[in-house]
This record gives sequence, structure tokens and C-alpha cells, in this order.
Amino acid sequence: MTSKQNQTSEINSDKLKRKTNPTERRYDRIAPFYDLMEWITERSVFQDWRNKLWSRISPGKIMEVGVGTGKNIPYYPKGAEVTAIDLSKGMLIKAKERAITLNIKVDLQHMDVQRISFPDNTFDTAVATFVFCSVPNPIKGLQELKRVIKKDGDIWLLEHVRVNKPVIGPLMDIANPLVVRIMGANINRQTVENVKKAGLQILSVEKLKGNLVKLIHCKV
Ligand SMILES: C[S@@+](CC[C@H](N)C(=O)[O-])C[C@H]1O[C@@H](n2cnc3c(N)ncnc32)[C@H](O)[C@@H]1O
Repeated sequence: MTSKQNQTSEINSDKLKRKTNPTERRYDRIAPFYDLMEWITERSVFQDWRNKLWSRISPGKIMEVGVGTGKNIPYYPKGAEVTAIDLSKGMLIKAKERAITLNIKVDLQHMDVQRISFPDNTFDTAVATFVFCSVPNPIKGLQELKRVIKKDGDIWLLEHVRVNKPVIGPLMDIANPLVVRIMGANINRQTVENVKKAGLQILSVEKLKGNLVKLIHCKV
């Protein structure tokens, strides 16, 4: 890298950090109440979706992105070697408590998916549930996953996305800034398109709740 490229990448990295800090603070703030806030949806629908996703994951070296309070930990395949990262230390404290209670081994790390500090081709599979709605630069995050997942490895995303229909789509766009402020998540992310823009190959997109929630399976 030339010194000019170095400078540009430092400036870009500072800019990204500034954009990411509010997300980190928001999740730190809501970490103590997060499970309570999600209690009804978790029991009524999320658990089924998590089951559906994790039933397709083979053991091996897995990276969970945005582990949050660790709601996926009970679903990890037996014998898997899981590294789970999150931007928020508050969320990681909760995930650690859950892993200890369940007696499940997981390497929890404070890390931004937009700047993963693992070498290329480290993991067999990556999983993220309801994460890319809150990553400030989702394409950058997906490109980082592409880098650390082995060639021919799998990436599974469970995400709520913008409903691309007249009225509903524009309404989601209007409500988005307020939702981001309260919940830290964007409700109008075009995640399937972002996956393509990151250069990943989409194998399947399953609609779990109409056009709102999608289970996306991609290959590196
Ligand atoms: C809506 S919560 C979902 C948590 C968990 N995956 C679940 O299914 O319950 C989003 C999580 O992604 C994390 N997150 C947001 N941006 C991130 C980033 N750039 N890198 C890593 N984690 C991030 C947040 O801190 C938060 O814990």
C-alpha cells in the first residue's frame, strides 16, 4: 500500500468508526432490557425461525455475527467451534451469562463485522440473525464475511428487509429514522441487494414472513 492509500484508508476507517459508535452506544443502552423487549416475538415466531436456520448448519468452524444476548447459543450444532462477535460490550456480557448458564462453549469477542480481525479463509460458515439491519455499512460487513469465510463456505442471514411495494415501502422509509433512533435497527434495508453488491452468490432466499423477513443462503 502506498502512503497515500494508507492515509485514505485511515480516514475512511475513522469515518466508519464515527458512523458505528452510535450503534454501539444504542445496543449498550438497550442490552439490559433487550430480552424483555423481544420476549413475545421470540416465543411466538423467532424461535421457529432460529430452529429452521440452525437445522441446516453443520458443525465446523462457525462465526456468529452480532451474537447479541446470545439467543442463538442454544441452537449451535454439537461439536461446532463457534466464535461469536458483537459490537456491543453490553450485549456480550448477556451472551456470556447465557453461555455459562447453558454450559455451551463459545469464543465471544468484541468486534465490528466491518473490520473483522481474523485472517482470510478462517471459518466454514457464518450466521447472522437480525444484524445487517443495524450495521452502518452493510456491504462492507458482508465483504468482510466473504473474506473470512473459506472458499465454498456458507453464509446464512435471517433478516427483516424493506418491503418493496407501493405505500408500504415508502412508509417504511419515512418511519426509518425514528425506528433507528429508538431501536438501533433500520427497517428499510435492501439486504438481498446488498448481498449481491458485496459479491456473494445467492443460493436461496426463503420468505418467512411475507416479504418482510427473509432467510438468505449464500456462498462465498
Ligand atoms: C437486533 S440485535 C440481534 C441480536 C441477535 N443476533 C439475535 O438474533 O437476537 C443486533 C445485534 O447486532 C450487533 N451489531 C450491530 N452492528 C454490528 C457490527 N457492525 N458488528 C458486530 N455486531 C453488530 C448489535 O450490537 C446487536 O447485538
